[in-house]
Order: sequence, then structure tokens, then C-alpha cells
Amino acid sequence: MLRIILCGFGVVGQSFAKLLLSRSEDLYAKHGLKPRVVGVFDSVGSATSSAGIDLERLLETKKKYGNIRKYHNKERQANGLDMIKGMEAEVLIETTPSNYKDAEPGMSHIVTAMKKGMHVITVNKGPLALAFPSLMELAIYNQVQLKFSGTVGGGTPILDYAKNSLRGERIVSFQGILNGTTNYILTNMAAGMTFGEALDDARKKGYVEADESLDIDGFDAAAKLVILANWIMDMKVTIKDIKRTGIRNVTVSDIKRASSNHCAVKLIASCNRDLEVSPREVPKDDPLCVNGTLNAITFNSEHSGQQTIIGRGAGGMETASSILRDLLDIKQEMGRV
Ligand code: HSE
Repeated sequence: MLRIILCGFGVVGQSFAKLLLSRSEDLYAKHGLKPRVVGVFDSVGSATSSAGIDLERLLETKKKYGNIRKYHNKERQANGLDMIKGMEAEVLIETTPSNYKDAEPGMSHIVTAMKKGMHVITVNKGPLALAFPSLMELAIYNQVQLKFSGTVGGGTPILDYAKNSLRGERIVSFQGILNGTTNYILTNMAAGMTFGEALDDARKKGYVEADESLDIDGFDAAAKLVILANWIMDMKVTIKDIKRTGIRNVTVSDIKRASSNHCAVKLIASCNRDLEVSPREVPKDDPLCVNGTLNAITFNSEHSGQQTIIGRGAGGMETASSILRDLLDIKQEMGRV
């Protein structure tokens, strides 16, 4: 049995709860995994039960009231950090929103949990973008696992592919489209919209982050580049090391000029000599040149040549499935100890 504390009950947290409900039988039958969520909290409320939270009722509560405060009959709200410090659990899942100023509250959740000996799965990119090297050291020092599959590529296992499927290879460089929202905007601009119209359309579809600068100004792509550079290239870098330009100043004429060269303008995150996020022209027949909200990344390796992975880089259920993948890895590793 694996006891879990879930931080954040937004789209990803709720999708994860739904996934556990729908998969509980086959998770046990196929993988011997019996997860028990013992604590959930967000910025407004919390629910705890050492016997296991009734996830169906928790989801209903959230749907009905917009928060989880009424899960318990009495007002019994725990502070998130107190819950992490006080409750017995093996795994902390961190899904609160990313921020690149101080990475809070996710940073404190992760650090507190690891110091207590808990394994951590984060889909929150903020703490990794600001402090990947030191968080990894902290995990090693405390002999816990820190997993973050969902931070790059959502449900598309980009990190796992580069680290494990290409093991033994030397990845020399890589370049990718790591932000779905800006890719959607640029695709719409290529179809004739102005930047403003395309941004409005992306907002209406619910793609743009609450703080839209994170997408538009390239912070999200830069955070993902930090994670890739540390994890795959063994670089010790943070978001300060990324040269970053967003798509705010891309004009329709830039896109038309690119098109006359059989290229499209894409927000590219690359690790070559430099670590850089910027709008660049990509040939339309390059496998990297994907449209809409898709993500794509091309790895250039010493012996296996170029390989491109394409997939959806966001979405509640997609990201929840990456959490499940991490959970299965943690269980497997725990079995080895
Ligand atoms: N805002 C991000 C994107 C979400 O558009 O790709 C996934 O990290």
C-alpha cells in the first residue's frame, strides 16, 4: 500500500483522482499498486483520512462547492505544510501552479516532504526551474526519489525516452517546441490571424496560463529547457541560465516571410552551445514543425542520429497519466531497496 498526499486539487489533481478511481482494479492486478490518498489540500481547503479519502465524494464536493472544504462535516482544515509534516505517507504529489519568482508554495511542499523521507512527484515546474541541482542533491541526501515526468511534454514521455530509451547514447544537442499555447497562437497566425486575435482565441479555448506571460514570454518553455538540460545533459543550470525571448513581438510579416522560405515561425527551446528559447524559422517539412497545441522535440545523438517525439504537451488527464507512471516507477524502486 502506498499512502499519498496530494497538493493542489485543480485540473491535474482532479484528473489524477479520476484516474485512480477508474484504474484501481487493473493497477492492483497488473502492477500490485494499491494507492491510498490520505491527504489532499489546496489554497482553500483540505481533506484528510488515514484510512483513505473517498475520492468520488471528494470530486463531488469540489464540483458542487468549487472547493473541498465541505468534504468533512466539521470545519477541520489543515494547513498544507502541517499536513505534510504531521501525516504518515510515502509519496507527495505536487500539482500547485508553477511560478518562477520564488516557486512557492510548491518549493516548501517538496523540500519539507523530502526532508521527512517522502518520495516526491511534481508536475509543478517552478521548483525545478529555480533549483533543479539542489533539489536533486536533497533527494539523494535524504534517499528519496524525486520524479517529474509530467513537467515536460505532459503525458508524452519525453524525459523518459531521452534518459532511458536512449541510454548508453550520447545526446549531443536537442531542440523542441515545448509550449503548446504559443504553438497554437503561431499556428493561427500562420492561418491569417494577428497576434492579438490568436491570443484571444487561445484564451477562449482555455489554453493560456492564468498568468499569460508564462506562456507568451517563454518562461514555461524555459523551465522545461532547464529540466531537460539538467536531466538529460547533466548540466547544472537554472532558469537564469536560459536566453529567453517570447513570441510577443512576432508579426504577421515575420510569418509571411518565413512561409515564402517554406518555413514556419516556431518558439524553439534548444540546447546546443547555448540554452535558448526564441522564435525561429523551421522548415515546414522538418518533423519538428508540428501545429496546433502539439509539442515536439528532436534529439541529435552521436550514433543513432536524429529522433523526433511528437505528442500532446498538456491536458489534465495526460498529465495525470504521467503521475501514474512516476508512481509505478517509485513502487518498483521501493521494491528494490
Ligand atoms: N502552458 C503550457 C503549454 C501547459 O501551453 O504547453 C503545459 O505545461
